[in-house]
Amino acid sequence: MPLFTKETESIIYGRQAAAVQRMLDFDWMCGRAKPSVAAIVDASSQNALPAFFGAKQILIPAYKTTKEAYNKTKAEVFINFASFRSAYDTTLEAMNYPFSTLAIIAEGIPERQTRIMAAEARKKGKILIGPATVGGVTAGCFKIGNTGGTPDAMASAKLHRQGSVGFVSKSGGMSNEMFNLIAQHSDGICEGMAIGGDRYPGTTLVDHVLRYEQDKAVKIIVVLGELGGTDEYGIAEALKQGKVKKPLVAWVTGTCAKMFPTEVQFGHAGAKSGTAKESADAKNQALKEAGALVPKSYDDFGELIQKVFEKTAGPIPKETTKPRMLPIEFKDALAKNAVRRAESIVSSISDDRGDDVLYNKVPLMQLLNEKATIGDVISLLWFKKRLPKYATEFFEMILKITADHGPAVSGAHNAIVASRAGKDLITCMCSGLLTIGPRFGGAIDDAAKYFKSAVERGISAKEFVEEMKDKDIRIPGIGHRIKSVKNPDARVTVIKRYARKNFPSTKHLDFALEVEALTTQKKGNLILNVDGCIAAVFLDLFSSCGEFTKEEVDDLVEIGVLNAFFALGRSIGMVGHAIDQKRLKQGLYRHAFDDILYL
Ligand code: ACO
Ligand code: LMR
Repeated sequence: MPLFTKETESIIYGRQAAAVQRMLDFDWMCGRAKPSVAAIVDASSQNALPAFFGAKQILIPAYKTTKEAYNKTKAEVFINFASFRSAYDTTLEAMNYPFSTLAIIAEGIPERQTRIMAAEARKKGKILIGPATVGGVTAGCFKIGNTGGTPDAMASAKLHRQGSVGFVSKSGGMSNEMFNLIAQHSDGICEGMAIGGDRYPGTTLVDHVLRYEQDKAVKIIVVLGELGGTDEYGIAEALKQGKVKKPLVAWVTGTCAKMFPTEVQFGHAGAKSGTAKESADAKNQALKEAGALVPKSYDDFGELIQKVFEKTAGPIPKETTKPRMLPIEFKDALAKNAVRRAESIVSSISDDRGDDVLYNKVPLMQLLNEKATIGDVISLLWFKKRLPKYATEFFEMILKITADHGPAVSGAHNAIVASRAGKDLITCMCSGLLTIGPRFGGAIDDAAKYFKSAVERGISAKEFVEEMKDKDIRIPGIGHRIKSVKNPDARVTVIKRYARKNFPSTKHLDFALEVEALTTQKKGNLILNVDGCIAAVFLDLFSSCGEFTKEEVDDLVEIGVLNAFFALGRSIGMVGHAIDQKRLKQGLYRHAFDDILYL
């Protein structure tokens, strides 16, 4: 019987997303009904591991301990990706559960520990593959971790369906090469195992050869040994004792070692040319003498396999089975221009896909080198332009001017109340920001709309005031609770002065002041307020600086971007008030009864 079936399930020790995905891709190609990974063990996170089974995303449960994973899944294979430091303890622990096969991937586990694990596995009747291996595969059924390589490699080595060659080697990397070679020179592998390159592997070459001898699905056996160690002599002995009757084709790599003047250590810990007995030549000779079919060199290996296969099983059958098609990774298909999809989000102001984030195509590092200001950043991210200095300085002036207006104003008050209710900083800030609206700080956009429309239509300030009165609309940007003709708002004075000095035209400001002249005749506090003044001078800036088309200005006013200046500026003050209350250790705010008119 092959080691694994189409129903075999495993537990992976470690959060090995790539290896798990390779296993699931193989499952899919083989036409399995269920994924072969039932769970992973991850002591540090029990977040399920997302992976694809075909085109469908699934979540593989993660458990803290092997015990839990076993109890929940009853999987029969344990694949240990623990490092060489913890592989010993975790494998011995796993041997307490009824796993039939265990694989250890880590390299560099001390030999003493490997020998204890191997003895323990033998005692408990378990098959231990590794350490220092990629694992193994039963074609068309189940594979361990990264065995077989990429889906393309697995398909070309015909691993998606059963052949009739039983293969065993030490090297995992060479296994993939051999799967391919065997597929070209026979009907492919039935099963392929890489026992690992350590000196004392959990199972030996001969262990698997003897399994293949018993396995009806295996018609010929292929072995790839390597110099170092005496494992191959075990096969020779089994052949001599008549324990292996099926044709066995074998080659021991490392025959080139004799060309080196001193002892050579190849990739594996065990692949060391020591005594003459451990040389590749000696082992090839011994295998040949015992009855194995040994090629002249590795170059003839494929040809010999084919000869033996055809003699035993007849001509190589024509391939009829195709692997179940694996969906292409979206990113790969995209790179090949093979798919298209309308993007869900369109963005035009910034891009962080490269090393340096771009603010409207300008790298942030360049802006820092140029000592660009917050005004420059706003002009790039809000208006997608590099505006002249007088404009960016104006932005910053507005931010400074609107940053705070004391604790009594609506926004600051709400931030203070929230802070005293124990809310966090962002919540306090948002509480204040949410107060900004048509009466408080957020009248700028509406003021801009009305002033712009009146100026465009060429109506007089008087006609405008009457029109608004007739419609029963309060003029946004006019009126203040405490500022008045007698108590002018110094902020408004500064803004007016800046616009007159720097902006090519102030026709909207002039219009707004004509409106103010009329409204203040009615009441002294119906002045052009901060919001109204900001609205008017922004209209002047946009329409006269030469950087915006008329359509762009219409768009900005229509969208309503100007309240953002108040919101951004005032958030500075709101943060300040929220922090201040916490620093002052102010308790919960409660309004005084005597300050409320109870009706
Ligand atoms: N347009 C026309 N008339 C007005 C306006 C206005 N913008 N504001 C107040 N009035 C009139 C009222 O209709 C009322 O008239 P009446 O006496 O004939 O009934 C009179 O002035 C007083 O109204 P109140 O509501 O008592 O005025 P108050 O001083 O409380 O209002 C406020 C101040 C809320 C700012 C108000 O002027 C207003 O709504 N303005 C428009 C919104 C605005 O620009 N807000 C931003 C203010 S600045 C800032 O928050 C940073
Ligand atoms: C402000 O800047 O908050 C004000 O002009 C509003 C106010 O009530 O003073």
